Amino acid sequence: MENRGLILLIEDDDLFRESLTRILEREGFSVEYARKGREAIEIAKDKDISLIISDIRLADNMDGIEAVKKIKEFNPSKKIPVIVMTAYSNDDAPVRALKAGVDDYIYKPIALDYFMLRIKKIMDVANLQRQEKEYIKEIRRMKDELAQYNIILENKVRDKTNELTLLFEIGKELTSSLRLDEVLHIIVERTSEVLKIERCSLLLLDEDENELFIAAAKGLSHDVIAGTHINMGEKISGWILENKSPVLVDDIEKDERFKSRSKEMYYTHSFISVPLIFKGKGIGVINVNNKRSREVFSKDDLHLVEGIADQASIAVENARLYSNLKGVYLQVVAALTSIVDIKDHYTRGHCERVTNYAVEIARKMNLPSKRIEVIRLASQLHDLGKIGVRESILTKPGKLTEEEWEEVKLHPARGVEILKPLTFLNDVMELVEHHHEHYDGKGYPEGQKGDNIELGARILAVADSFDAMTTKRSYANALSLDEAIEELKKCSGTQFDPQVVEAFIKLLKENPRIFSK
Ligand SMILES: [Fe+2]
Repeated sequence: MENRGLILLIEDDDLFRESLTRILEREGFSVEYARKGREAIEIAKDKDISLIISDIRLADNMDGIEAVKKIKEFNPSKKIPVIVMTAYSNDDAPVRALKAGVDDYIYKPIALDYFMLRIKKIMDVANLQRQEKEYIKEIRRMKDELAQYNIILENKVRDKTNELTLLFEIGKELTSSLRLDEVLHIIVERTSEVLKIERCSLLLLDEDENELFIAAAKGLSHDVIAGTHINMGEKISGWILENKSPVLVDDIEKDERFKSRSKEMYYTHSFISVPLIFKGKGIGVINVNNKRSREVFSKDDLHLVEGIADQASIAVENARLYSNLKGVYLQVVAALTSIVDIKDHYTRGHCERVTNYAVEIARKMNLPSKRIEVIRLASQLHDLGKIGVRESILTKPGKLTEEEWEEVKLHPARGVEILKPLTFLNDVMELVEHHHEHYDGKGYPEGQKGDNIELGARILAVADSFDAMTTKRSYANALSLDEAIEELKKCSGTQFDPQVVEAFIKLLKENPRIFSK
């Protein structure tokens, strides 16, 4: 029979206690008994009591109600149900019993059926209460667990959102540039920033040599950058590219794949290496090293670098395609300028000489390399518009008629027209358009004045005029170097920007070899 629980029976009448014990045991209860209140308290301390049945009067100075009260005080959380029995009607006993938390009060002699019903009812209620308590405890536990889970989930969502936002930002920045050097710089800078690292390197595959070289890096010396050439399959980066497989390494010394490989100078113990893959082909490797916090890299870090590598591969290939396209366009334009040379044989070699003078002046004036590059291209293309000027005018000996002169003056605008579809040459067009402006505002096409004329155009104007003075033209003989310098001085402040003239004269005096015929 299933054990229905342990009953503590407090009764000093041995006969009654024994017969009640037998009855209760028949009903499936275990019974512990005590004759005295103190005995009962001791038993209740150690045992898991389901119900107390107690006589009020005991052979002791502590009666049943007092004993029950004490037991309840020791075990406030257990809420053990209690039935008291008495053969006497005492005035204050029921009130005291109620105060002591007694659940039922039964007079002797007891009617057995009724008594068992009472026991069953009280124990059912107690069981329900216990179950309710368990449920509440379980619900609380689940609530806590849920709260904990929510925090973890929230953190995960936040981390993922941050990661996606970062990748989105990097992607946006990468698509804003088509210059390969800029794209590489952005990749290395953003990766270092996001992962809080000291070293990052981006290696690209040189397909002709079949070797990797460092195309951009942060935290590496120039010697390492310049001196790193890694064959496919070699060292670590070569392995990554050959296997097209990203790696996260906690400790290189304990990693079977890499510990025996000859290390690259920029690897420390923990690193991430991810291949750049475009259309299934390995095009490079991005290496991430040295967390500023000195921690090892995590899986989240790896996912982030993989995300960056995906975007970087597309950006690098786009920039390369664009650069190739630019190269093709420039070749076409160069072919057009050579047509001008053919039409006007007096100017043969003019473009190269003007380019040489203009670039040297720009360098002398300490212009940044990007602007020098614009000046170089503009110098090569400045007379492109002459392709639309009649050959008879270009090579006419003597003075031009008003009408002919007007046609010549259209060549800067025509040059711009030809270049217009090539938006990457916007800066160059500005110089082409204004290379015949005069410092005093008396030039063409717009009559721009002083510093309103783009500095590159002012430099180009001096270089262009100097070459015209020093080479034989259909309308004039060539001047000597000294004569040309005198002419430059004479026109300084009117036709030419005095600062440009000063720089150029200094240059010609310091290095007369620049002057070429
Ligand atoms: Fe010109």
